[in-house]
Amino acid sequence: MEPWSCDELDAAAECLARARYAIALTGAGLSVESGIPPFRGPGGLWTKHGEPPLDGYQRFLADPRRAWEERLNPAGPMRELWEALTAARPNPGHAALVELEDLGILKCTITQNVDNLHRAAGSARLLEIHGNATLIRCIECVARYARESIDFAELPPRCPSCLGILKSDTVSFGEPIPPDVLERCFEESERADCMIVAGTSATVYPAAQFPMAIQERGGDLVEVNPYESELTALCRHALRGPAGEVLPQLVERVRARL
Ligand code: APR
Repeated sequence: MEPWSCDELDAAAECLARARYAIALTGAGLSVESGIPPFRGPGGLWTKHGEPPLDGYQRFLADPRRAWEERLNPAGPMRELWEALTAARPNPGHAALVELEDLGILKCTITQNVDNLHRAAGSARLLEIHGNATLIRCIECVARYARESIDFAELPPRCPSCLGILKSDTVSFGEPIPPDVLERCFEESERADCMIVAGTSATVYPAAQFPMAIQERGGDLVEVNPYESELTALCRHALRGPAGEVLPQLVERVRARL
């Protein structure tokens, strides 16, 4: 498809500037320009190595010690992902969403990314629906701790507050999304009349249902993605380009309308 045009940027900016309650949904594509590979599509980790088993959480519960040994000594695609996560820094796409938040346009960012880059960029109104790789969560009381504050001498590590088993905060395949985050995501998407959908294939649920619900209610979707996704047909505006280039230009045009 043709790369994004100025007319499309202007139309998308107009849509955002007059939105009553705009939010964003982001995916792995937003962090590609920070050096983290996506999961699907060209250069995707799962494209290269195959999708991981869908019972990751059941495997964790069956043998949390072993699961922790594997997480602390990642191999194969997980090692590639972990090394990229550790070296990554926010890119202009992350910064642009922070600017939209500071302008009062973006009311919330729901991210599927576990890479902590939205936080590092300064996003304040952020919901990490798949968790955060720098955090550890108790599977009993759902308390979260900074990874560096946990002692891994004994595996599995135990919750300092309830002695429950601790797990990476990242949501494994087969694991229910922690209710505290999921409820907030539903609340925010039910309030929204406009959503930026940046860097996601929109193939994983429940995240993918939020933009669909907004569109069904007559809201506007603004897609930022170099390639078509499952959502493209539902989008009012589709900006075909890399988020790190498109989003800063979009912000400038929104700012010019305020
Ligand atoms: N800018 C914007 N979008 C990009 C860029 C870029 N520079 N590069 C690639 N993309 C797009 C791809 O075209 C694709 O549509 O980003 C999307 C990435 O899709 P996925 O790899 O499927 O990532 P995501 O949608 O976040 O996956 C959802 O699946 O594997 C699980 O838990 C994992 O959170 C992840 C979830």
